[in-house]
Parts: sequence; C-alpha cells; structure tokens
Amino acid sequence: MRIDAVTIFPQYFDALDISLLGKAQENKVIEFKAIDLRDYTHDKHKTVDDSPYGGGAGMLMKPEPWGDALDQLLNPDGSTVLIFPSPAGELFKQSTARELANKEHIVFACGRYEGIDQRVFDWAQGKAEVRLVSLGDYVLNGGEVAALAMIEAIARLIPGVIGNSESLIEESHSDGLLEYPSYTKPAVWRDLEVPEVLRGGNHAEIAKWRHEQAVARTKAIRPDLLP
Ligand code: ADE
Repeated sequence: MRIDAVTIFPQYFDALDISLLGKAQENKVIEFKAIDLRDYTHDKHKTVDDSPYGGGAGMLMKPEPWGDALDQLLNPDGSTVLIFPSPAGELFKQSTARELANKEHIVFACGRYEGIDQRVFDWAQGKAEVRLVSLGDYVLNGGEVAALAMIEAIARLIPGVIGNSESLIEESHSDGLLEYPSYTKPAVWRDLEVPEVLRGGNHAEIAKWRHEQAVARTKAIRPDLLP
C-alpha cells in the first residue's frame, strides 16, 4: 500500500519511521511519503493561505497549491482514496480502518487554519474517492495528528506489519467490545491477585470469563457500542 500525506508540517510524519511502521517501510510492505504543500506554491513567501470571501475570522488555505500537489499525487484512474481529516467528517472507526487497509493508495490532505477552499473538495470529486474523516468530536489544530492516528490504525491491519497477527483478533473493537483485562507475572503484586480462573489453565473457562469481562467493561464504559 502507498500512503501520502500533504501538509505544511512534514516533520509531524517523522514518527512513522520508528517502531513497527518504520520496519514495514523498510520491508516495503507500506510506502509512505510526506509532501510539503509549500513546494507547490509559486511566490517568494510560499503562501498557502488567504482571507475568506465574505469575511469571518482567520485564514483559509488557497486552492492552487492543493490542486498542483494533488495533480501529481492522485492515480489517473481515479483509484486513490483522498482523505481530508476534518472534525466535520464521518467518524473514523475500526471498521473504517479495516475498509481502508484494503486500498492501494491513500492520500491524506492535512488542512490548517480555518480549513481549505471548498473548490478543492468539489474539484477532487470524480478524480478520487473523496472522504472527510474525523478522529473524534473535538477540534485539533490541523489534520496532521488525525492523519497520523488513522495511518497507524490502518497500517497495522495490513498483513506483515504486525508480527503476531493473532493480537489483532482479541483487541478492543475487533468484535465490537472493549478488550478484557489482562495480567502477567507475578501472581500477587502489592496484595493484588491475578484472578484464579486465569491461573487454572481451563481454556473454555478462561474464554468465558474474558467474554464476560469484555461485556461488563463495555456496558460500564461504552454502552453505546452494545446492540
Ligand atoms: N482536524 C481538526 N480537528 C480534527 C478532528 N477531530 N479530526 C480530524 N481532523 C481534524
């Protein structure tokens, strides 16, 4: 899979060079590139923003650098998924990550300031599969942190990125529930004991206990996830 991110702060994406995603890049399982939007400006000051028509607070991102950058990046056959991280978008969920992990090419267009000129979205329709995607119901300073989180959630589902793919099966949200609590040695720590059932070795009992814990935890913390 190829992932590109267009941004005025490419350094944000240096984090993708470490740990499992760094390895995945070395192994060519994923190919990642951060593209500096200012490379697609044509004035001395590398201007990417301007004041909004009709007035209002703050600055908007100009369409021309976005158009020139995306002209270079989008697959000509329309197969690229173009994601604009935005608090006004559809909510990013584990199911979104699963869907996107099957794509060949994703471009994250990371806006700053008060957002991007609407014509960039309108123009891109038909050139790519355009999606506005929100990380959650809060506002970040720009799309970079949201894109980073989405890239990690997507990339770790690609075969070969995580060494132990079994760990994907039982984690939170994989089955619509939050994950059950886990314990390691020692069996007693600061007077707190590991639950007896986990020490017994009865796999059916353990599976039943874990499912009950996952349901109870989901009911308490995220009842909205339950049917
Ligand atoms: N940009 C600013 N806030 C955001 C959010 N919550 N999700 C995605 N992109 C954003």
